[in-house]
Amino acid sequence: MDTKHLLEIMTFDEKVGQLLQIAPFFFIKHADVEIAGEVKDLGLSRKNIFHAGSVLGIGSAEEMMQVQELYMKNHRLGIPLIFMADIIHGYETIFPVPIALASSFNPELVKQASRTSAVEASTAGIHVTFAPMADLVRDPRWGRVVESFGEDPYVNEVMVQASVEGFQAGDLKDERTLASCVKHFAGYGASEAGRDYNTVDLSRIQLHNGYLNGYKKAIEAGAKMVMTSFNVVEGIPATVNRYLLREVLRDLYQFKGVTISDYDSLHQILNHGCAEDDKEAAERGIMGGLDIEMASTCYIKHLKELVDEGVVDMKLIDEACLRVLDLKNDLGLFDNPYRGANPTEANRLVMSKEHLEQSLKAAYESLILLENKDILPLNKQVKVALIGPHATYDMTNGPWSWRGNQAHNTSLYDELKAFGVDVIHVNDQVDVSSYNEHDFKIIREADVVILALGEHVRESGEAHSKASLRLPRHQDDLFHMIKQHAKKIVTIVTAGRPLILNDVKESDALIYSWFLGTKHALAIVHTLFGLNHPSGKCPMSFPMHEGQVPLYYNHLNTGRPYQPQGHNEFTSYYLDMPNEPLYTFGEGLTYTKFMYGDLHVSKTEMIPQDTLDITIDITNVGEYTGHETVMLFIRDRVAAISRPVMELKKWQKIQLNPNESKTVQFRLTAIDLGYYDQEGKTVIEPGWFDIMVGPHAKDTQKQSFKFIKG
Ligand code: GLC
Repeated sequence: MDTKHLLEIMTFDEKVGQLLQIAPFFFIKHADVEIAGEVKDLGLSRKNIFHAGSVLGIGSAEEMMQVQELYMKNHRLGIPLIFMADIIHGYETIFPVPIALASSFNPELVKQASRTSAVEASTAGIHVTFAPMADLVRDPRWGRVVESFGEDPYVNEVMVQASVEGFQAGDLKDERTLASCVKHFAGYGASEAGRDYNTVDLSRIQLHNGYLNGYKKAIEAGAKMVMTSFNVVEGIPATVNRYLLREVLRDLYQFKGVTISDYDSLHQILNHGCAEDDKEAAERGIMGGLDIEMASTCYIKHLKELVDEGVVDMKLIDEACLRVLDLKNDLGLFDNPYRGANPTEANRLVMSKEHLEQSLKAAYESLILLENKDILPLNKQVKVALIGPHATYDMTNGPWSWRGNQAHNTSLYDELKAFGVDVIHVNDQVDVSSYNEHDFKIIREADVVILALGEHVRESGEAHSKASLRLPRHQDDLFHMIKQHAKKIVTIVTAGRPLILNDVKESDALIYSWFLGTKHALAIVHTLFGLNHPSGKCPMSFPMHEGQVPLYYNHLNTGRPYQPQGHNEFTSYYLDMPNEPLYTFGEGLTYTKFMYGDLHVSKTEMIPQDTLDITIDITNVGEYTGHETVMLFIRDRVAAISRPVMELKKWQKIQLNPNESKTVQFRLTAIDLGYYDQEGKTVIEPGWFDIMVGPHAKDTQKQSFKFIKG
């Protein structure tokens, strides 16, 4: 399709219509029937509806084809709709939530999860997914931490790139792909006090050296869309923020794709106090660089008068409309408006055995073994008492799994029984007062108590922030009560965020499962009995107390760093709590044991065109085959800006058999040593750098080298 020519023959209303995204209910029943009640306030007429450029959400191939057919009949030029939806970590086959996938430190799993999500969702005629979420998050109180890849900018970059590549698979003409819309641009994960939709106040140095990295990487990976965030940046709502949408996105990142607001976020700049009315919001949006307006109608109601009044240049509308038309062209929609929709294919592909196997494999590598006092893996002959609110819980898909086919989900009880385990008692109550002497007697008879704790699926995700990070509903009390009677306790915590584990840390074994999706319970049971060996590691710090938050490993040193040994009163510490997390970034155990040899670097002086080779021998000195994620951090000791005490720059996940050794090699180039200045330009300064290699941020060996500018 010659989109430039098409633009020339479009009317003003048809152009602005392309910038409107509405929900499908306007089409599925007779549109004029649906414009009722509060929806009428949107000011949408039948004409507007049949000019809209895209639809948010669709339920099936049949629905999509019905809507597209109705729409195409009513559009003068037959410009097809784009169908967009939130396909975050699965469509009907649900994979582990993103924070869990990050715990695997295996980008191939992230790529596979996105690939399979695209294959399944595209059969319903969905063309764009509002994913990946590339928001860096250092505050577990924020409910959407569950959708993130954690606290580290580099992990975020690697996983975001893998996700975009999985969704788009290199060629959007392939109808089993989804165009990726990376979100939420920008800095949404830094919401003050961890409260969703709250103020964000980041310096440009912080933006460019942490919070923007993921979006930048998504754009480099070819993401076709960027969604703006609800928050302000530098006091200006991101949805109308020229610095973000034009200076950073268009000029610095050279992004050519489409920007879209978040749900009603253009209209909501009135709540921010940044527009008197929708007309001013429309002006600030189009001038700021926003293309599509999701679920509000500022553009459709006011752009015409703004152009007539000479306030808005028609060129801006033409540019935005052309980007939308080009996206439709990239997706092949002008050739096939029903791209992807195929009920027969849906029956064949959705929740296929292969996809369920993929979900199980991802779950295997996403759970984290935090403690194991030589009790796991369990012998299958053990007598088990299964206790706690997650004992019979099967809502394990996690947030943003709106199409997840719950029918295939199981509970720990289901899977323990199916595995042939002798479960002599089950009590899924959380309130300690609901346990009696009968319970205690049986618990005393059991070889092991499997204590299944955690959050309900509705306790994390959008608009589900928390002030307290303790296990909910006094589950610590349940732990202490069970501990009085149990021989051994294996605690499993299911949650969408890092929680405070100070008490359950005393379990004989502690597994953090996150929400692992369709195969959650099966993956856990296979892990308990050794069919799967855990390899997950913490993608975020686990605090001892909410008062420590935000808490992350790659912090700055401050001018008065706390020195536990030579404690000086006037340093950066708390009177009532350590500075350190309970579990730090990268911590996670396996069933075997790895020994690290000496760290070697290829040179102690490096010039810009050099590469620096780092090697270390890893040996599996345990009795089981296992995976180890070896991490390489750097520290720039002295620079114009204060640099973090540690920054992850490389990692490798390796598998070793018992007694097997491997020399792990990393290669650094000058660019790995740099940081971004406040204009987002890379700066690499000469001077001494430390290299730290180890299993996690608290356990590393160090070598140093000097970078000499030529
Ligand atoms: C929501 C979310 C965003 C999602 C959008 C469409 O409010 O913030 O992540 O993609 O609306 O559902």
